[in-house]
Amino acid sequence: MLEKLHTPRWAWVLTGSGHFFVESFELIHGLEHCDVFVSKAANEVLRMYKLKLDFPETMRVLHDKTASSVPVGAFYHGIYHTVVVAPATSNTVAKCVLGISDTLATNVFAQAGKCRVPSIVFACDTAPELETMAPHGLVKVYPRRIDLENTEKLKDFERTKVVESLADLKAAIRERHAELKRAEPAGHG
Ligand SMILES: Cc1cc2nc3c(=O)[nH]c(=O)nc-3n(C[C@H](O)[C@H](O)[C@H](O)COP(=O)(O)O)c2cc1C
Repeated sequence: MLEKLHTPRWAWVLTGSGHFFVESFELIHGLEHCDVFVSKAANEVLRMYKLKLDFPETMRVLHDKTASSVPVGAFYHGIYHTVVVAPATSNTVAKCVLGISDTLATNVFAQAGKCRVPSIVFACDTAPELETMAPHGLVKVYPRRIDLENTEKLKDFERTKVVESLADLKAAIRERHAELKRAEPAGHG
């Protein structure tokens, strides 16, 4: 199956955060060659927001079904050029900051780091007071000091760009696209 897929490709991690979930989800459709890694919580949140994982054939959807996160083995074969974790829950951010990789989402981030693949992380907890879209409408949330500290700590990670708004996420993806284009061999595409 891998030989039929265009590589290297994007790896997009969806975690179980309602904060800009729908908007992040829509951005995946703008990427041509992408694998979507779905956390167990994201799989539930998807249903609450009535979204379906119906992507074109050039994309694969990978679920969190194994203890060892089998799909991340692909990082060791240069299959991915960029990881996007969007949206990133406070849970996933906290684990990433501590170097924990016991879920598909945290494993993608960890293996990307170990394979020197750059990551863009859209952290949800970026301000002491936020408005977020719950399945039935806007609600106010007040991220704790630990959540805000973890977001800050993630910014110190190698090859990791932490973005704090949808506009910044879009800009980071555009910049990465341009970087990849510049790196293409002359005459390619
Ligand atoms: C509808 C819904 C919305 C949620 N939104 C958020 C959120 O905005 N931020 C967050 O950190 N957790 C949110 N959660 C909680 C996470 O899903 C939960 O912490 C989960 O364990 C995260 O797992 P994951 O990081 O592996 O995806 C939400 C849960 C539900 C049911």
